[in-house]
Amino acid sequence: MSLRNCRTVKVLDVSPVGQSKSPGELFELRLQYPDWDGWKPGQFVMIRPTGWELDLLWARPFSICSSDGESLTLFIQNMGRGTSRIGKLKSGDTVTMWGPLGNSFAVEPETPTLLLAGGIGIAPFRGYVEQHPQPENLKLFMAHRLPLDCYPYALLSKSVSSHCMIEEKPEDLDRIIDTMRDRIREYAAQDGLILSCGPTPFMRTVQRFALEFKARAQVSLENRMACGVGACLGCVTKDGEGHHVQVCTRGPVFWADKVEL
Ligand SMILES: Cc1cc2nc3c(=O)[nH]c(=O)nc-3n(C[C@H](O)[C@H](O)[C@H](O)COP(=O)(O)OP(=O)(O)OC[C@H]3O[C@@H](n4cnc5c(N)ncnc54)[C@H](O)[C@@H]3O)c2cc1C
Ligand code: FES
Repeated sequence: MSLRNCRTVKVLDVSPVGQSKSPGELFELRLQYPDWDGWKPGQFVMIRPTGWELDLLWARPFSICSSDGESLTLFIQNMGRGTSRIGKLKSGDTVTMWGPLGNSFAVEPETPTLLLAGGIGIAPFRGYVEQHPQPENLKLFMAHRLPLDCYPYALLSKSVSSHCMIEEKPEDLDRIIDTMRDRIREYAAQDGLILSCGPTPFMRTVQRFALEFKARAQVSLENRMACGVGACLGCVTKDGEGHHVQVCTRGPVFWADKVEL
């Protein structure tokens, strides 16, 4: 990434999404479009509000969800100090942003493709569906804990066939894992493509079944990141051969059989 791609952009708006027990737990952040030539679904940005000054040092990484040429949309879950303060930004505030960063999900227009989303892991799939040349070949399966209206699920389910399952009780998790197993086996049998994004335990489940059924599956990792450009080594993981690799530059998307989780 060149310095040309690090810039200050304006916040257009921050809107809470859905009716969770903690209002504002998920929100949509719309930023001024940063005048990029383009971006690919699966890529991410690092953002650091200019108002943080020296208080919180590191920027925070977020998947690019969608763009319309004038604005860039991110879907964010309030997880801690950084995201809670990002949620309090106002229209007209500014953030330093660098990106688009990292690699992107595979696109095989003719191949039956299953999108597996765990919670806010649905964010990059909005852009994936919008940019896909043949969305009729896509299916979405989503597992979630918060009410469905907290996520951009409705935006996707209008365009692709979809199925979601909520995890409210411990036994729900068993049903979700069984469904993931069935779907991954089904797509492996037809040499389909499986793309997944979500918390690490969700990615581990995808990887386990992908290896069991020899499925062609990709997992998008959400390691802690500081620089986003391969310099700090804060995000390293091991590839399938035991070598340390930076998730920010070699990922965040990896083939499931080429990364240790
Ligand atoms: C490539 C990439 C894309 C991402 N895309 C999105 C997205 O589209 N939407 C979104 O809401 N989040 C996304 N995340 C996760 C997001 O970056 C973290 O939730 C955020 O950095 C937490 O910052 P914080 O200051 O609020 O949390 P902190 O105060 O630093 O930590 C609070 C809690 O959040 C956990 N946490 C911190 N960093 C991460 C992380 N990277 N992943 C998971 N949990 C974390 C900590 O373990 C801790 O429990 C992405 C992460 C990566 C690496
Ligand atoms: S975040 Fe710095 S090397 Fe990946």
